[in-house]
Order: sequence, then structure tokens, then C-alpha cells
Amino acid sequence: MQRRMVRKLTLKKLLNQLAPHPSPKPSLEQYTIPADLAAEILYLAAYTYNAIIGKAILDLGCGTGRLAIGAAFLGAKQAIGVDIDTTAIRTAQRNAEKAKMQEKTQWVASDIHTIRGKFDTILQNPPFGVQKRKADTKFLESALKLGNIVFSLHKRGKVTTSSFLIKFITTHGGKIKAIHPMRMAIPYMFYFHRKQRHEFPVDLYVIEK
Ligand SMILES: C[S@@+](CC[C@H](N)C(=O)[O-])C[C@H]1O[C@@H](n2cnc3c(N)ncnc32)[C@H](O)[C@@H]1O
Repeated sequence: MQRRMVRKLTLKKLLNQLAPHPSPKPSLEQYTIPADLAAEILYLAAYTYNAIIGKAILDLGCGTGRLAIGAAFLGAKQAIGVDIDTTAIRTAQRNAEKAKMQEKTQWVASDIHTIRGKFDTILQNPPFGVQKRKADTKFLESALKLGNIVFSLHKRGKVTTSSFLIKFITTHGGKIKAIHPMRMAIPYMFYFHRKQRHEFPVDLYVIEK
């Protein structure tokens, strides 16, 4: 277990070395979280909320595994990543080996709705629900069933945080501890993108059951 505080730059460098998805699908919104944003979230979860070190972590919609691998690197007891896409899961497995985190990580190719059990901490960067309506709230529903504390990243509305999401979370038994405003930048990935780089505001919801 990591006992000393890891430098954010060290974590970011590790995450930057991990391979992206070789053939991302727009229908699954397979954007890889940028290394600096992943490091910011993991740092908050570990050192502000004490929700990583020694904990059992579940990364829902893990993609190429950045959040789960980063959590393992910071000292999680175990980190499990789940994704519906087998190519993402194979890439995450190889990434965990590259980061020498294979003993602390496990990878499950499955729909998140099949997952049962109880975990200390859920980390998720779910589809924003742009390609498939309600994809984001389905993730929130699963996360609230499976975790004691949930870190969930969502696209912010044009002006403010989403009153719809706040209501959804509270009516599903979640208590919002904080909403951290952040920014996400993604490179050109899909045919419908109009810019080389798209930067937009996101909110990290920290939710307790
Ligand atoms: C926005 S990507 C995030 C990937 C990764 N967590 C990251 O932050 O780099 C969302 C991920 O959710 C996965 N996904 C979408 N629907 C899913 C479902 N029903 N069950 C499991 N995974 C799903 C996609 O394949 C994709 O990898």
C-alpha cells in the first residue's frame, strides 16, 4: 500500500503512458479521460475524502482503465474495472501490466447492471448521455446501489450545474457532499467533431449513500 502522498505529477505521468482505446465507438461515448483530469479526481478522492487508500474500488465504465489503475497506484486495496466493451477491457488489462498494477486490479467485460456487491468507493466517468439518452443516470443508479461513496463526472449544463441530476441523486437515496467544477479537454475523435480540441466544463459529484 502507498503510505506516502504521491506527487500529482508522478500520477499524471503514469496515466499519460497508458494506451488509449484503439477503436473508440461514438455510440458508447468512449472518450478517454485526460490524464490531468483523472489525476485531479483521484487526488481529491484519495487525499481530501480518504476514499482510495486501503479501499475496495469499483470503476464503472472503466474504458482503458485510467481511474482504476490510478487508484491502485495511490494505494487502493483492490480496484475492479467494468466495461461492456471487450476491446476496452483488453486494453485496460495491458495498461495495468504496463503500470505494474496487475495484482491490484481486476477487469470485467460486462454491462454495469450485472454487477452485484458492495464497494467502498465508486469512480466513474460515465457516458454523458449525449448519444444514448439516460446513459448517465443509469450509471448513477448502479453506482448508488454498489458504493458507499461515489465520484461521478458529468457534463455541466450551459450555465449552471444540473438541477435535474441533483434531484435524480437525492431521490435515489444519495447525499451530495460536494460538486467540484472542473474542465475536460478532448481531442478530435469522431466524425461529428468540428474542432481539433474541444474543452468544456464538467462537474465532479461526490455522493454518499
Ligand atoms: C466516457 S467513457 C469513459 C472511459 C473511462 N472511464 C475513462 O474515463 O477514460 C464511458 C465508458 O463506459 C462504457 N459503457 C457504456 N455503457 C456501458 C454499460 N452499460 N456497461 C458497462 N460499460 C459501459 C463505454 O464502453 C466507455 O468505455
